[in-house]
Amino acid sequence: MNSKKKLIAGNWKMNGSLAANEALLKAVIAGVDDAACDIAVAVPAPYFAQVQSLVAGSAIAVAAQDVSLHQVGAFTGEISAAMLGDFGVRYALVGHSERRQYHGETDVVVAEKAQRALAAGVTPIICVGETLAERDAGQTEVVVKRQLAAVIHLNGHCISEVVVAYEPVWAIGTGRTASPEQAQAVHAVLRAQLAAASEHADRIRLLYGGSMNAGNAAQLLAQPDIDGGLVGGASLKAPDFLQIIAAAR
Ligand code: 13P
Repeated sequence: MNSKKKLIAGNWKMNGSLAANEALLKAVIAGVDDAACDIAVAVPAPYFAQVQSLVAGSAIAVAAQDVSLHQVGAFTGEISAAMLGDFGVRYALVGHSERRQYHGETDVVVAEKAQRALAAGVTPIICVGETLAERDAGQTEVVVKRQLAAVIHLNGHCISEVVVAYEPVWAIGTGRTASPEQAQAVHAVLRAQLAAASEHADRIRLLYGGSMNAGNAAQLLAQPDIDGGLVGGASLKAPDFLQIIAAAR
């Protein structure tokens, strides 16, 4: 059932510098040699060219942290999906909780962004997840199902072309990870929803994100419906990121 390659994606968020990026990526590249999983790093846009040249010839793909819902034109500060394609960007995070929370991105906006990415040949990594208040109110399933429902019917594309990341907001950057059982339970809900929409649901990679680290990655990644990780803080430290990659067999 779970024969697809896992994907470990680092999300650098608004961290990095020319010097730090080079040191980090050189250390990661030196350590990965024959990774059994797919690897990506979602980097701040100004570093696309630098990172693209550093990872050339390695197993690491470049990802964006966001993409515009507009195609082209007078949208100051926005970055289009076509521009991501120009830089060889392979994936784009869409609907990360920090975008939903701080930039007011709605489910509709997230769906439009996913659509733009797909149209430009960039694979969206669509993020869903509940807040602590929603979990405490017993709303986890309702929330993640609503967020996934918004993207499940994509014009001209099959949902199996995307990656989905379950990131409980209460576990992001808090050191408080969902237990493997908690994460698996939500992933199973998402998988069932995907299966109802597409006969290719088994192909879709469902990543877990939220304080994944070198110590807890193996257990999380051993769950039947966890097909990879979206890693924040630990992706900024080469030894930790490498241990997570090694756990993704
Ligand atoms: P942390 O791994 O730092 O909790 O961040 C998770 C995340 O938001 C990845 O997108």
